[in-house]
Amino acid sequence: MKKIIILNGSRRKNGNTTKFINCIINKLPKNKYEVEWIFPQDYNIMPCTGCNLCFTKIKCILNDDIELLQNKILNSDLFIAASPVYIHYMTADLKRILDRISWWTHTYRLQGKPVIIISTCSSNGFDTVLTSLSNIITFMGGNVVATSNASELPNQINNNSWLDEVSLEISKRIEYYINIPCKSNKFIEKYFSNMKILMLKRNEFYNSTKEYKEDRELTYWKETGMLYSDSFENYLKLKYKKEEV
Ligand SMILES: Cc1cc2nc3c(=O)[nH]c(=O)nc-3n(C[C@H](O)[C@H](O)[C@H](O)COP(=O)(O)O)c2cc1C
Repeated sequence: MKKIIILNGSRRKNGNTTKFINCIINKLPKNKYEVEWIFPQDYNIMPCTGCNLCFTKIKCILNDDIELLQNKILNSDLFIAASPVYIHYMTADLKRILDRISWWTHTYRLQGKPVIIISTCSSNGFDTVLTSLSNIITFMGGNVVATSNASELPNQINNNSWLDEVSLEISKRIEYYINIPCKSNKFIEKYFSNMKILMLKRNEFYNSTKEYKEDRELTYWKETGMLYSDSFENYLKLKYKKEEV
Protein backbone atom coordinates (compact mmCIF):
# COMPACT_ATOMS: atom_id res chain seq x y z
CA MET A 1 0.00 0.00 0.00
CA LYS A 2 1.37 3.44 -0.93
CA LYS A 3 2.23 5.61 2.01
CA ILE A 4 1.61 9.31 2.67
CA ILE A 5 3.59 10.97 5.45
CA ILE A 6 2.36 14.27 6.89
CA LEU A 7 4.75 16.47 8.85
CA ASN A 8 2.63 19.15 10.51
CA GLY A 9 4.69 21.89 12.17
CA SER A 10 1.78 22.87 14.43
CA ARG A 11 1.47 21.58 17.97
CA ARG A 12 -2.32 21.91 17.73
CA LYS A 13 -3.38 18.47 16.65
CA ASN A 14 -6.93 19.70 16.03
CA GLY A 15 -5.92 23.11 14.70
CA ASN A 16 -6.41 24.80 11.34
CA THR A 17 -3.50 23.09 9.61
CA THR A 18 -4.80 19.65 10.57
CA LYS A 19 -8.29 20.66 9.41
CA PHE A 20 -7.02 21.70 5.97
CA ILE A 21 -4.94 18.56 5.51
CA ASN A 22 -7.76 16.32 6.73
CA CYS A 23 -10.06 17.85 4.15
CA ILE A 24 -7.52 16.93 1.43
CA ILE A 25 -6.97 13.39 2.75
CA ASN A 26 -10.73 12.78 3.06
CA LYS A 27 -11.08 13.39 -0.68
CA LEU A 28 -8.82 10.43 -1.47
CA PRO A 29 -10.33 6.96 -2.02
CA LYS A 30 -10.94 5.30 1.37
CA ASN A 31 -8.35 2.75 2.57
CA LYS A 32 -6.27 3.06 -0.59
CA TYR A 33 -3.32 4.77 1.09
CA GLU A 34 -1.60 4.42 4.43
CA VAL A 35 -1.48 7.85 6.09
CA GLU A 36 0.81 8.73 8.99
CA TRP A 37 0.95 12.07 10.83
CA ILE A 38 4.03 13.50 12.49
CA PHE A 39 3.64 16.25 15.11
CA PRO A 40 6.77 17.87 16.58
CA GLN A 41 5.84 17.33 20.22
CA ASP A 42 5.70 13.55 19.76
CA TYR A 43 9.41 13.31 18.92
CA ASN A 44 12.59 14.26 20.68
CA ILE A 45 14.39 16.55 18.22
CA MET A 46 17.31 18.58 19.52
CA PRO A 47 18.44 21.83 17.87
CA CYS A 48 21.29 21.62 15.34
CA THR A 49 24.61 22.40 17.03
CA GLY A 50 26.18 23.63 13.78
CA CYS A 51 29.05 21.12 13.96
CA ASN A 52 28.70 20.35 10.20
CA LEU A 53 29.44 16.68 10.76
CA CYS A 54 26.28 15.57 8.93
CA PHE A 55 27.83 16.92 5.71
CA THR A 56 30.96 14.81 6.15
CA LYS A 57 31.66 11.14 6.71
CA ILE A 58 30.39 11.20 10.27
CA LYS A 59 26.66 11.32 10.79
CA CYS A 60 24.90 13.66 13.21
CA ILE A 61 26.24 13.08 16.70
CA LEU A 62 23.02 14.01 18.50
CA ASN A 63 21.20 11.04 19.90
CA ASP A 64 17.49 11.69 19.34
CA ASP A 65 14.63 10.81 16.99
CA ILE A 66 15.89 12.58 13.85
CA GLU A 67 16.91 9.37 12.09
CA LEU A 68 13.51 7.86 12.81
CA LEU A 69 11.85 10.89 11.21
CA GLN A 70 14.23 10.84 8.25
CA ASN A 71 13.38 7.19 7.56
CA LYS A 72 9.65 7.86 7.81
CA ILE A 73 9.94 10.62 5.19
CA LEU A 74 12.27 8.64 2.92
CA ASN A 75 10.10 5.51 3.05
CA SER A 76 6.95 7.39 2.07
CA ASP A 77 5.59 7.64 -1.48
CA LEU A 78 4.31 11.18 -0.97
CA PHE A 79 5.28 13.76 1.61
CA ILE A 80 3.07 16.58 2.94
CA ALA A 81 5.06 19.33 4.68
CA ALA A 82 2.83 21.78 6.55
CA SER A 83 3.05 24.68 8.94
CA PRO A 84 0.95 27.45 10.41
CA VAL A 85 2.41 30.90 9.77
CA TYR A 86 4.32 32.15 12.79
CA ILE A 87 5.42 35.78 12.27
CA HIS A 88 5.68 35.37 8.51
CA TYR A 89 7.58 32.09 8.66
CA MET A 90 7.17 28.40 9.38
CA THR A 91 7.12 27.32 13.03
CA ALA A 92 10.41 26.91 14.88
CA ASP A 93 9.50 23.23 15.42
CA LEU A 94 9.41 22.57 11.68
CA LYS A 95 12.54 24.63 11.01
CA ARG A 96 14.39 22.69 13.70
CA ILE A 97 13.60 19.41 11.93
CA LEU A 98 14.64 20.84 8.55
CA ASP A 99 17.91 22.19 9.97
CA ARG A 100 18.73 18.72 11.22
CA ILE A 101 18.27 17.20 7.76
CA SER A 102 19.91 20.02 5.85
CA TRP A 103 22.53 17.71 4.29
CA TRP A 104 19.65 16.49 2.11
CA THR A 105 19.75 19.85 0.30
CA HIS A 106 23.15 19.03 -1.22
CA THR A 107 22.28 15.47 -2.12
CA TYR A 108 18.76 15.66 -3.56
CA ARG A 109 17.97 13.02 -0.98
CA LEU A 110 14.20 13.17 -1.68
CA GLN A 111 15.01 11.82 -5.16
CA GLY A 112 12.01 13.30 -6.96
CA LYS A 113 9.46 12.29 -4.30
CA PRO A 114 6.16 14.20 -4.80
CA VAL A 115 5.67 16.80 -2.08
CA ILE A 116 2.68 18.97 -1.11
CA ILE A 117 3.31 22.19 0.82
CA ILE A 118 0.53 23.52 3.06
CA SER A 119 0.24 26.51 5.36
CA THR A 120 -2.51 28.23 7.33
CA CYS A 121 -2.59 31.74 8.78
CA SER A 122 -4.78 34.44 10.26
CA SER A 123 -4.41 36.84 7.38
CA ASN A 124 -0.85 37.34 6.11
CA GLY A 125 2.72 36.09 5.92
CA PHE A 126 1.99 32.84 4.08
CA ASP A 127 4.02 33.73 1.00
CA THR A 128 7.28 33.60 2.94
CA VAL A 129 6.27 30.19 4.33
CA LEU A 130 5.18 28.62 1.05
CA THR A 131 8.11 30.05 -0.90
CA SER A 132 10.83 29.09 1.55
CA LEU A 133 9.40 25.64 2.23
CA SER A 134 9.10 25.01 -1.53
CA ASN A 135 12.68 26.14 -2.08
CA ILE A 136 14.01 23.94 0.72
CA ILE A 137 12.12 20.89 -0.57
CA THR A 138 13.25 21.61 -4.13
CA PHE A 139 16.88 21.84 -2.96
CA MET A 140 16.31 18.47 -1.29
CA GLY A 141 15.25 17.01 -4.65
CA GLY A 142 11.54 16.83 -3.78
CA ASN A 143 9.08 17.46 -6.60
CA VAL A 144 6.68 20.11 -5.23
CA VAL A 145 3.38 19.31 -6.97
CA ALA A 146 1.04 21.63 -5.03
CA THR A 147 1.27 24.54 -2.59
CA SER A 148 -1.64 26.15 -0.81
CA ASN A 149 -2.47 28.37 2.15
CA ALA A 150 -5.81 28.66 3.97
CA SER A 151 -6.47 31.92 5.84
CA GLU A 152 -8.86 32.81 8.62
CA LEU A 153 -9.26 36.25 7.00
CA PRO A 154 -10.50 36.24 4.26
CA ASN A 155 -12.41 33.23 5.50
CA GLN A 156 -11.07 30.18 3.72
CA ILE A 157 -10.40 27.73 6.54
CA ASN A 158 -14.04 27.88 7.73
CA ASN A 159 -15.54 28.26 4.27
CA ASN A 160 -16.56 24.75 3.22
CA SER A 161 -16.97 25.47 -0.47
CA TRP A 162 -13.50 27.09 -0.71
CA LEU A 163 -11.98 24.29 1.32
CA ASP A 164 -13.68 21.59 -0.76
CA GLU A 165 -12.67 23.07 -4.09
CA VAL A 166 -9.01 23.55 -3.17
CA SER A 167 -8.75 20.22 -1.35
CA LEU A 168 -10.26 18.36 -4.29
CA GLU A 169 -7.66 19.81 -6.67
CA ILE A 170 -4.82 18.89 -4.31
CA SER A 171 -6.20 15.37 -3.74
CA LYS A 172 -6.31 14.85 -7.53
CA ARG A 173 -2.66 15.78 -7.75
CA ILE A 174 -1.86 13.36 -4.90
CA GLU A 175 -3.70 10.57 -6.74
CA TYR A 176 -1.81 11.31 -9.94
CA TYR A 177 1.71 11.80 -8.62
CA ILE A 178 1.71 9.02 -6.01
CA ASN A 179 0.95 6.47 -8.72
CA ILE A 180 3.65 7.40 -11.25
CA PRO A 181 7.46 7.13 -10.92
CA CYS A 182 9.16 10.06 -9.11
CA LYS A 183 9.77 13.02 -11.38
CA SER A 184 12.01 16.05 -11.69
CA ASN A 185 10.89 19.59 -12.54
CA LYS A 186 12.52 22.69 -14.01
CA PHE A 187 13.37 24.14 -10.58
CA ILE A 188 15.18 21.00 -9.42
CA GLU A 189 17.02 20.84 -12.75
CA LYS A 190 18.36 24.36 -12.28
CA TYR A 191 19.82 23.56 -8.85
CA PHE A 192 21.00 20.14 -9.99
CA SER A 193 23.21 21.45 -12.78
CA ASN A 194 24.82 24.03 -10.47
CA MET A 195 25.36 21.53 -7.68
CA LYS A 196 26.79 18.97 -10.09
CA ILE A 197 29.47 21.45 -11.18
CA LEU A 198 30.40 21.96 -7.52
CA MET A 199 30.54 18.22 -6.90
CA LEU A 200 32.70 17.61 -9.99
CA LYS A 201 35.11 20.30 -8.80
CA ARG A 202 35.19 18.74 -5.35
CA ASN A 203 35.90 15.37 -6.94
CA GLU A 204 38.73 16.86 -9.00
CA PHE A 205 40.23 18.40 -5.87
CA TYR A 206 40.11 15.18 -3.87
CA ASN A 207 41.65 13.27 -6.79
CA SER A 208 44.51 15.76 -7.02
CA THR A 209 45.45 15.79 -3.36
CA LYS A 210 47.35 13.13 -1.47
CA GLU A 211 45.30 13.77 1.61
CA TYR A 212 42.24 12.08 0.24
CA LYS A 213 39.28 12.60 2.51
CA GLU A 214 36.16 12.24 0.44
CA ASP A 215 33.01 13.49 2.07
CA ARG A 216 29.60 11.96 2.58
CA GLU A 217 27.91 14.23 0.03
CA LEU A 218 30.28 13.45 -2.82
CA THR A 219 30.12 9.74 -1.96
CA TYR A 220 26.33 9.93 -2.24
CA TRP A 221 26.58 11.66 -5.63
CA LYS A 222 28.91 8.91 -6.84
CA GLU A 223 27.12 5.93 -5.34
CA THR A 224 23.72 6.98 -6.69
CA GLY A 225 25.19 7.80 -10.12
CA MET A 226 23.96 11.42 -10.02
CA LEU A 227 27.52 12.63 -10.62
CA TYR A 228 27.57 10.91 -14.00
CA SER A 229 24.14 11.99 -15.22
CA ASP A 230 23.51 14.93 -17.52
CA SER A 231 20.22 15.79 -15.78
CA PHE A 232 18.26 14.83 -12.67
CA GLU A 233 15.38 13.76 -14.91
CA ASN A 234 17.53 11.26 -16.83
CA TYR A 235 19.06 10.04 -13.58
CA LEU A 236 15.57 9.39 -12.13
CA LYS A 237 14.43 7.61 -15.31
CA LEU A 238 17.37 5.23 -15.07
CA LYS A 239 16.94 4.74 -11.32
CA TYR A 240 13.26 3.78 -11.54
CA LYS A 241 13.84 1.60 -14.63
CA LYS A 242 16.46 -0.34 -12.64
CA GLU A 243 14.07 -0.70 -9.68
CA GLU A 244 11.36 -2.11 -11.97
CA VAL A 245 13.68 -4.86 -13.30
C1 LIG B 1 3.25 32.68 17.54
C2 LIG B 1 2.24 32.90 16.45
C3 LIG B 1 2.55 33.71 15.38
C4 LIG B 1 1.64 33.92 14.36
N1 LIG B 1 1.97 34.72 13.31
C5 LIG B 1 1.08 34.94 12.30
C6 LIG B 1 1.41 35.79 11.19
O1 LIG B 1 2.50 36.32 11.06
N2 LIG B 1 0.46 36.00 10.24
C7 LIG B 1 -0.79 35.43 10.33
O2 LIG B 1 -1.61 35.70 9.46
N3 LIG B 1 -1.10 34.59 11.35
C8 LIG B 1 -0.22 34.33 12.33
N4 LIG B 1 -0.54 33.48 13.38
C9 LIG B 1 -1.83 32.78 13.34
C10 LIG B 1 -1.70 31.32 12.86
O3 LIG B 1 -0.85 31.22 11.75
C11 LIG B 1 -3.04 30.72 12.45
O4 LIG B 1 -4.00 30.87 13.46
C12 LIG B 1 -2.90 29.27 12.02
O5 LIG B 1 -3.99 28.91 11.24
C13 LIG B 1 -2.78 28.34 13.22
O6 LIG B 1 -2.65 27.03 12.76
P1 LIG B 1 -2.84 25.76 13.72
O7 LIG B 1 -4.21 25.88 14.33
O8 LIG B 1 -2.70 24.58 12.84
O9 LIG B 1 -1.75 25.83 14.73
C14 LIG B 1 0.36 33.29 14.41
C15 LIG B 1 0.06 32.47 15.50
C16 LIG B 1 0.97 32.28 16.51
C17 LIG B 1 0.63 31.37 17.67
